Amino acid sequence: MDKIAEIKSAFDSEISLCETLQELQELKVKYLGKSGELTVLLKSIKDLPAEERPTFGAKVNVLRGELESEFSKRSEQLKQMEMQRRLQEERVDISLTSSQPLGALHPVTLIENQISELLVAMGFEVLSGPEIETDYYNFQALNIPSDHPARDMQDTFYVTDSILLRTHTSPMQARHMEKKKPPIKMICVGKVFRSDSDASHSPVFHQIEGLVVDKNITLCDLKGTLEYIASNLFGKDTKVRFRPSFFPFTEPSVEVDLSCSNCGGKGCSLCKGTGWIEVLGAGMVNPFVLENCGIDSKKYNGYAFGIGVERIAMIKYGIPDIRLFYENDQRFLKQFGK
Ligand code: PHE
Repeated sequence: MDKIAEIKSAFDSEISLCETLQELQELKVKYLGKSGELTVLLKSIKDLPAEERPTFGAKVNVLRGELESEFSKRSEQLKQMEMQRRLQEERVDISLTSSQPLGALHPVTLIENQISELLVAMGFEVLSGPEIETDYYNFQALNIPSDHPARDMQDTFYVTDSILLRTHTSPMQARHMEKKKPPIKMICVGKVFRSDSDASHSPVFHQIEGLVVDKNITLCDLKGTLEYIASNLFGKDTKVRFRPSFFPFTEPSVEVDLSCSNCGGKGCSLCKGTGWIEVLGAGMVNPFVLENCGIDSKKYNGYAFGIGVERIAMIKYGIPDIRLFYENDQRFLKQFGK
């Protein structure tokens, strides 16, 4: 009987020291296995006097029952602990992504989007065209004769004699008019290329081309559209002024100025004291261009404009040098946010 109590107390302290299922299994073999403590004890029954055997046998069986139930209890505990440990170790910290810095749209994109949205609201469709263009669409279709200064090697990046990087978005006027008959109301947003570089010129910059062709279109329609854009971009008191100019593909042609948003027209360093800032070229579509594209110029007419996107962004945000747009300096880009 002493032996039974001894085994029970030894077992109790040993099982509490088991930290893994492996250790627990080893302990189980030690006590309940084929040559385990309890089995040996049970075998010793034959050495006892006959009358003590039943009580002894019963006690050993009770002990076996106790040991078995403690094994399964401890095994359950260890499984739980193992599960907790793995949950802890294999945890994925999903909060980490929130520490990533957020990007923002480039100021050129912001202005492009803003102007495009205004024009789309007025019913213009948005097109894009090839940046590598043929001489035909960039020049000839637009009534630019071969001796025009715009074709000078200094301005144009040529790929071959007849293929070049488009110097403006106007080739999309011709491409579109060839395909679609009036009424036409489209804009084309994209990159253009010129061999020119200083604080206000970049070899690559962005334009938004606008084209309307229908019956009885006038310069007043052009002016109204531009006034709408100007007042949305620079405030409702902004004035639009037309000055006579020349483009081979528009007749008459105009240079468009806005009243200076910095000084309200009084004259400051931004507008060089004039109160006006030149922002774009425009005009009534030259009948030659309409005819080149298969549109009857006696029935239809239209207007076109080409906005320099960087120029608008420079005026709106007070940016002194066009090269800042392309350097990807985050100190510059961060300021425009959403
Ligand atoms: N394509 C001209 C330029 O790049 C701008 C322009 C567009 C002028 C449409 C008139 C009409 O300078």
